Amino acid sequence: NEIKIFAPATIANVSCGFDVLGLCLDNVGDEMVIRKTAEKGIRISKLVGQDLPLETEKNVAGVAGLAMLEKLNLNHGFEIEIYKNIKAGSGIGSSAASSAGTVFAMNELLGKPFTLKELVPFAMQGEKLASGTAHADNVAPALLGGFTLVRSYEPLDLIKIPTPSELYATVIHPQIEVKTSDSRSVLKQNISMKKSIIQIGNLGGLISGLHTSDYDLISRSLHDEIVEPLRAILIPGFKKVKENAIACGALGAGISGSGPSIFALSKGKEMAEKVAKIMSKTYKNINIDFDIHVSKIN
Ligand code: HSE
Repeated sequence: NEIKIFAPATIANVSCGFDVLGLCLDNVGDEMVIRKTAEKGIRISKLVGQDLPLETEKNVAGVAGLAMLEKLNLNHGFEIEIYKNIKAGSGIGSSAASSAGTVFAMNELLGKPFTLKELVPFAMQGEKLASGTAHADNVAPALLGGFTLVRSYEPLDLIKIPTPSELYATVIHPQIEVKTSDSRSVLKQNISMKKSIIQIGNLGGLISGLHTSDYDLISRSLHDEIVEPLRAILIPGFKKVKENAIACGALGAGISGSGPSIFALSKGKEMAEKVAKIMSKTYKNINIDFDIHVSKIN
């Protein structure tokens, strides 16, 4: 009647896949304990590590859980304890981890009435509360693992993409908070034909490279013509960190989700660690505090 889970951090967009592509980190995430209660509904009984609302309707985990409860006719409820390691507003899917973790754990406790894909729309309701948009590019990889593509939102069509075995992510988080809603507000509603052609080519190339473990193709495809140029100004030292990561041997680098975290992808753990060192050094040189992680994609 109780389950303890690891709720993973995720990197959304992955440069050329704004709102459609995401990946799941192996070793960065929150812990959650979820148990059945006689009392109906959802109650957040504990939230450690971040200053976030406990009220069910104001908490992403609560909202995701309520969306799932609506589809069920239960005579009991759930109590949630959240132990946050992922900082809110860090750009590695803090809200997604809580939303996805909640519905995953509830589903397990109920004997899996839903498939993992079917859980995604419930978790998306948590994202809607957090950012104003029910984007799935963090919750889908958090639930399905590895890389996922949102082929379509209406109807929701999620595709799991294979992960080359030697692909590693380095993520550096400068200690500032950027709200997803704010970093979405700097975006334009229209893009040029020229930019969309480049972006579509890169997204196709990235997906193909992931399927065929073609690291050179992955590297050539990791560019963002549309969102990164508008958001980069919100992230101190972005250009330097990205340039240095790529000069050091990373396949590519960009903004993780809506930032301010910056990610780099590398072939092999050794290279990912080398990239972590150079990214850290870059921030040390400009006196910015940071957290850094090297993770397998899983
Ligand atoms: N695709 C979303 C965005 C992800 O970039 O706004 C937020 O983590």
